[in-house]
Order: sequence, then C-alpha cells, then structure tokens
Amino acid sequence: MSKNVSFGLATVFASWICSATINATDTATYTATELAINQDDSITFERHVRPILKAHCFHCHGEDGEKEAGIDLRLVRLMKESGAVDSAVPSASMLLEQVESGAMPSGAKKLPDEEIDLIRRWLETGLKTIRVEPEVVPDYEITEIERSHWAFQPIVSPSIPSNGQSHPIDALVRAKMTEKEFDFAPTADKVTLLRRASYDLHGIPPTPEAVDAFVNDNEDGGWLRAIDRLLASPHYGERWGRHWLDVVGYADSNGGPKDSTREHAWHYRDYVVQAFNEDKPWTDFIQEQVTGDVWRIRVG
Ligand code: HEC
Repeated sequence: MSKNVSFGLATVFASWICSATINATDTATYTATELAINQDDSITFERHVRPILKAHCFHCHGEDGEKEAGIDLRLVRLMKESGAVDSAVPSASMLLEQVESGAMPSGAKKLPDEEIDLIRRWLETGLKTIRVEPEVVPDYEITEIERSHWAFQPIVSPSIPSNGQSHPIDALVRAKMTEKEFDFAPTADKVTLLRRASYDLHGIPPTPEAVDAFVNDNEDGGWLRAIDRLLASPHYGERWGRHWLDVVGYADSNGGPKDSTREHAWHYRDYVVQAFNEDKPWTDFIQEQVTGDVWRIRVG
C-alpha cells in the first residue's frame, strides 16, 4: 500500500472548479476519420482498417469461430487466404466491393463514406501493416487504439502556453479555444461566480452570509478562500459523494413491489460522504472498497 500518492478527492474537484474550464469528458473511442486526420503517415491495417472491421465485421468474419462465406478478416494474411483481398489487384478486392455496394456489413447499418474511403486508400497504398502479423490470431488482443487511450498514457507535464491566463489549466484551455476560434465567456461578477461554485460543490445556492463573506473579501486570494470554505463544508461530501453512490448503485431500500428497507445501508453512504469531506486519497478509497474486508486485516 503506497502512501506516496496523496491525490485526494477534494484536490480533484477543487482544481476542476477553480479553473474556468468546461468539463468536457474525453471519450474512449476514436473515429476512423479522426485517426486518419491525426496520422499524416501511411494508412495501416492496425491503426486505420482493423478498428472498422472489428466494429462492423469481425463478429461474422473471424471471431468466435464465425466465418461467414469462409471469410476471415482478422489479419491481412487471412483476408488474402480467404479471398476477401486480392493481393494481385488489391483495389479489385471483394472486401472493397462489398462495402462499396453496401452489401456488407449485412444488415441495415452501412459503413460511413469516410470509412469506406479509408479501406479503399489502404488497399490502393499496398496493404500496409505496422508489424509482422502473428502466426496465430490471439484470442484477446489489446489493440493499438485501446493502448493509445489517454487514460493509459504515462503522466507528463505539458508545456504551458503563455497567453495571459493566470491558471495553467485556463492557459491550456485558452490555447485550444483560440485554435478553434472560440473565446471565454465574459468574467462573471462575484455573486454569480459564488452561486455557480456553490451549485457545483454543494448542489445548493450560497447562503446570504456566504455571499457577504465573499463580496466583502477584497484581499488577494478571496476566490480561493471562498472555494476553501465550500470544500470545508459537510455539504461538499454530501453533494459529490452522491455521484459515487450513483455509480455503485446505492439505495436505502430494495425497490420493487416489496420495497424493504436496507437498515444498515446508511453506514456505507456516510462512509462515502466522509471520504469526500476528509479528502481521502483515491488509492485508499478504491482499495477500501475493492478489498476492504481483507485489506484492513492485512495492514491492521
Ligand atoms: C451479421 C453478419 C455479417 C456481418 C456483420 C458482416 N458480414 Fe460479410 N457476410 C455475411 C454472410 C452471411 C456472407 C455470405 C452470404 C452473402 O454473401 O450475403 C458474407 C459474405 C461476405 C463476403 C464475401 C462475399 C462474396 O461474394 O463471397 C465478404 C467479402 C464480406 N462478407 C465482407 C464483410 C465485411 C467487410 C463486413 C464488415 C464491413 C462484413 N462482411 C460484415 C455476414 C456478415
């Protein structure tokens, strides 16, 4: 159990709220088009074509022993062997013919034009692969795309653009927004700002006293002090703990026709709320829940 990573819950949400960022969640999926744009190099099977076939074709042509019409699309070698790809004249391949005509994937959903175009360009540019293909198709494979997901990359410090923003997150957001020809919304007045922060961190509007305290605090750092007061309040854990409780399916009763009460469930609810309020490190929070029954015994 490592105590080095003291990356607490409140830290995460505090840095989130302190910056004027939009909480845009990065998605796990890349469209084939995005990949094509991101890679100015050659079109390869692993990066560009396989994801399309994996999403639309493998379940009938390769996976789980399914090989409709004898066609296996999981490797370039297998595509050639099964006749889907014509190595002599790749652009005349059945693979292309089937997706262009809309015959494949069989069913109502057809491939978007840009994906068909990628397949065509891949065929025309010599069926490139990144690696030598394996002898045996692995049962389970972590693909290039899955591996390149941002959440699995080592943490690096990005260089912070100097564009007049005082907070580094704002500087990064500003740089991206400028690129897209967007601008920040106008700076909010103090009452509006505190109201927004209160809804974010507590789920309820600020009290008149909290508004007065912030409006009358004109020293440097007034905003950070206001955020600290919000984070110090028990309402913070009540509000943000709820997201976790939603995810784990917390309920005080069983639901359904016989809606019996779960008498002791509140212990867990309070534990989650308290974890947020105490700024418990993520590592502890997760470990306690995944292995709490044995972990406490082992270290304690
Ligand atoms: C739901 C199952 C299913 C899916 C998904 C599917 N296929 Fe097929 N495919 C079949 C069947 C069944 C046949 C054989 C009968 C036919 O030609 O309709 C076939 C035949 C083919 C053939 C051979 C055609 C011929 O004339 O011999 C190719 C090439 C092919 N599919 C490519 C693809 C590609 C590429 C995709 C994905 C874009 C795909 N298929 C998705 C079921 C499927």
